[in-house]
Amino acid sequence: LGQHIHYEESVDSTQKIALQLSLDGAPEGTVVIAEEQTNGRGRMARTWFSPKYTGIWMSVILRPQLLPHKAPQLTLVTAVAVVQAIEELVSIKPQIKWPNDILIDGKKMTGILTELQAESDRINSVIIGIGINANQELEVYPEELQSIATSLRIETGKTINRAELIKLVLAKIEHLYDVYLQEGFYPIKLLWESYAVSIGKMITARMLQGNLYGKALGITDDGALMMEDELGKVHLVYSADIEI
Ligand code: BTN
Repeated sequence: LGQHIHYEESVDSTQKIALQLSLDGAPEGTVVIAEEQTNGRGRMARTWFSPKYTGIWMSVILRPQLLPHKAPQLTLVTAVAVVQAIEELVSIKPQIKWPNDILIDGKKMTGILTELQAESDRINSVIIGIGINANQELEVYPEELQSIATSLRIETGKTINRAELIKLVLAKIEHLYDVYLQEGFYPIKLLWESYAVSIGKMITARMLQGNLYGKALGITDDGALMMEDELGKVHLVYSADIEI
């Protein structure tokens, strides 16, 4: 990973650029990194606050030979990779909130957005977008984010060497992607569950269809969240925001 790096000063979204590069035939492992995004994208059509020179805003192009419905597993591969990289670099243990928020002390430090480009039942590319809040001070966040977002700098009091963190994250993704391709999802799932905050807790899943309250049991091989409601019925949640 990272043999081909496209570095940009300012872009609207690294996802958009990576998607275009992948349509133009960019090889697997191509990475797009920007200092700033003017229109960073988040999950569920939200925006992602991406101020200049402080965070890591990057998109990685993968081309796995998988069926499209397996693509969400790569989001979980990436989440574990980012957590391991941060553990190694700054010795704090972040937690993962399903499906792919990485938190420290309950506040969001990293978001991951996976976008799939597939033809019929074949994946052409998977674009994994990673946004890591590295060196922001709390004041730079818009007010509505101040109580829910954090950065590595805020949590550790130290300035993060972003180049080093990028290198580490890419190395971890490469390794875990390899494990995933060789051994399947199971080892990844175990790692993911070891970092997950919500498993075993009572949570509310906010979905388009309404809310579901119950106990988070674990994840399925599709990366869906298994929840048990108060009547003991088990539900599979594919897309939601979780409140613990
Ligand atoms: C989320 O909603 O939690 C996902 C946020 C993903 C943000 C990253 S930053 C790099 C890449 N480019 C984007 O526009 N979004 C992703």
